[in-house]
Amino acid sequence: MSVLKIEDYTNLGISLAYFSLTAWIIWKIWVFFTPRDSHSVRSVAVLVLGDIGRSPRMMYHAESFAENAFITEVIGYGGSKPIPALERLPRVQLRYLPEPPEFLRFIPFIVAAPIKVSIQVVSILLELLVRIPKAPEFILVQNPPSIPTLALVWLVGCIRGSKVIIDWHNLGYSILALKVGKTHPLVKISEWFEKTFGRCAYAHLFVTKAMRDYLVEKWDLQGRKAILHDRPPHHFHRASSQETHELFRRLQIPLMAHKDLQGFLPQSSLPYSTAFTQVVPPSHSKPSSRSKATVESAYTEVQLPTVRPDRPALVVSSTSWTPDEEFGILLEALTLYEVHAQNAAKQSTKSKLPKVLMVVTGKGPMRDSYIQKVTKLQKTWEYVRCVSLWLEAEDYPILLGSADLGVSLHSSSSDLDLPMKVVDMFGCKLPVCALDFKCLGELVQNDVNGLVFKNASQLAEQFVNLLEGFPNSTPRLNTLRTNLINAASSSRGRSPQIASESDWYWGSWDENWNSTVKPLLFRTLP
Ligand SMILES: *[C@@H]1O[C@H](CO)[C@@H](O)[C@H](O)[C@H]1NC(C)=O
Ligand SMILES: *[C@@H]1O[C@H](CO)[C@@H](O)[C@H](O)[C@H]1NC(C)=O
Repeated sequence: MSVLKIEDYTNLGISLAYFSLTAWIIWKIWVFFTPRDSHSVRSVAVLVLGDIGRSPRMMYHAESFAENAFITEVIGYGGSKPIPALERLPRVQLRYLPEPPEFLRFIPFIVAAPIKVSIQVVSILLELLVRIPKAPEFILVQNPPSIPTLALVWLVGCIRGSKVIIDWHNLGYSILALKVGKTHPLVKISEWFEKTFGRCAYAHLFVTKAMRDYLVEKWDLQGRKAILHDRPPHHFHRASSQETHELFRRLQIPLMAHKDLQGFLPQSSLPYSTAFTQVVPPSHSKPSSRSKATVESAYTEVQLPTVRPDRPALVVSSTSWTPDEEFGILLEALTLYEVHAQNAAKQSTKSKLPKVLMVVTGKGPMRDSYIQKVTKLQKTWEYVRCVSLWLEAEDYPILLGSADLGVSLHSSSSDLDLPMKVVDMFGCKLPVCALDFKCLGELVQNDVNGLVFKNASQLAEQFVNLLEGFPNSTPRLNTLRTNLINAASSSRGRSPQIASESDWYWGSWDENWNSTVKPLLFRTLP
């Protein structure tokens, strides 16, 4: 037996050090990738493959998770400001993905696209696998887009043991099919991808019952399922006449830029009156009502704007000006209304129809050609004007809240999703006339919160029916509005599960989330 030399000891020491270092690293990696145990703090990663601030539904999800004591990591792109709650709530962390490099915009799409996707994949994996130190218990992802997110969260789920929840907003392949045609190979690949990686998620949320039924039957979706209808942002409400007054003061210049409107709208003089509102000067108010009034109440009386009796009916629609939104129907309906109104004016027996200002918001490819058409048409019109307006985000809910009637021309690409703009209108207690499609009934109920139409002549008739007698007596319109107001207030304290099946029910996002999503997050439920 040879005697160990000093060098041997050194070598042994170094080997031991190497060995323990390796063991430590392996152990660290092992711990890192081991599925988390269920007793530690609850956590969720919310993945948005887009501007976080422009994904209201995903922001509400994040807010709800955080309010239910989840550590909430929101991963997505920056750009617009997220809702204040996400910056206020201490459990929420916003993790912004890097924007694709500038130079990609200057090279051909075919080269740029793979680079862009690779950067996206790496940055998402980096966040989900490395930057978020403890594996989140749940990963919530929206669909579409499906590629590559569905595969990524599936992979992360396998590695870190996080449970994947897919929020089905729509079907990616059906949107793609609208652009390239149903039989295109890309549509087939996209459908396969969505089905394969979507099928086996832990839980699924759907924007409509129709979507749940369709996917469960067609793809045999596994896992827990819940329907969570969209809700408008908290601050959407019926506008006060003060808000309406301020809005039309701001809109005076863009409105008057439309030459067609001069002579159509009632005369106004800022800041005391707009085309829709006025601050009644003291000399105009009735003496009888003021005889006993003190000086102070007379002061407040003159300060508050009221809606003008000679205002036109304000009808709003928002469109993306794309081929799948039938703007032509609206144009035809307005033409028919004009004829009805002129006839009614000639016949003394018929009740008169009001002037209608149709305001269309939104930007899109077919806007200019339609606007040219309408400008030409309304040269001969007396009762109707249709203008396209671009509104600031904060003005949009006030316009909806000031309007008398909303119009939805949305027809779904998949027949499985609902128009968010109608949800917004309902939030502002604005009744709608909505173009019929397969699952519209989950939102618009004919004669309860709006009217459903199939063609232009039907829409024109609805305009006549609802607006006859405007602004003094419009019983049908008032009933619809009252129903909207009641449904929102009576929802408090009712059980959504029972109510949603029978009569029309409008729970808040929080109520709906607590009763449908929360149960999915606990093991004890089937
Ligand atoms: C429009 O729809 C109504 C109701 O479905 C129908 O009775 C009417 O014939 C349709 N009109 C036209 C012009 O297609
Ligand atoms: C939903 O649940 C959260 C957390 O338990 C609670 O703070 C909130 O008030 C609930 N909201 C409604 C509308 O029930």
